[in-house]
Amino acid sequence: MVRPIKIAPSILASDFARFGQEVKAIDEAGCDWVHVDVMDGHFVPNITFGPEVVRAIRPYTQKTIDTHLMISPADPYLEAFAEAGADMITVHAEAGPHLDRSLQAIRAMGKKAGVSINPATHESVLDYVLDKIDMVLIMSVNPGFGGQSFIPSTIEKTRRVRAMIGDRDIDIQIDGGVTTETAPLVAAAGANVLVAGSAIFKTGSVEGYRDMIARIRDAAEKAQA
Ligand code: DX5
Ligand code: ZN
Repeated sequence: MVRPIKIAPSILASDFARFGQEVKAIDEAGCDWVHVDVMDGHFVPNITFGPEVVRAIRPYTQKTIDTHLMISPADPYLEAFAEAGADMITVHAEAGPHLDRSLQAIRAMGKKAGVSINPATHESVLDYVLDKIDMVLIMSVNPGFGGQSFIPSTIEKTRRVRAMIGDRDIDIQIDGGVTTETAPLVAAAGANVLVAGSAIFKTGSVEGYRDMIARIRDAAEKAQA
């Protein structure tokens, strides 16, 4: 079963003084989801933004707002992100001792639930939560910064996660260093949601965003089995 490729530009690489216009631009350029990287300066060595930025951009797109919480603890903030308008809330398996509880809380608020694993985390942490998630986010860089190089072991990990998921209705998202070169590698391994920050935003215009979203999508679709 081949799942449709979705492209999720990360606004981490956008112009922070113009979030509304940037979200509108990627929406018009044909993105599927809007990826929002939330960092706390504790779980990761960088600080970005919180639920109020989600609330501020919400009127600029009807598309899925995909919040990637790189924060620890995450549980005290889940409700704030849900209430601000997030559609998908992804927590890191490494961020706290009660992953199952976090996922139950996200779904209880009617939101889609994702689990993210860092490059050094084994996929076995997903074993007992597969019935509680809508997406697995496999980090292909160490979280914290945009513009890093893709870590090749992600490809084999993606294959393994794909096999674990079987025919369950779960997306596999790849985040970090996604380009027209790396997208086909992970799509061939079974990933279907591709986050791209710098590759898209460095093009610098709506036409550039549209072209890069289309090129990454095309490269990934051709590689899907
Ligand atoms: C890294 C973030 C990524 C990052 C991707 O911590 O989770 O979403 O912004 O950026 P690029 O595409 O530049 O690697
Ligand atoms: Zn991210």
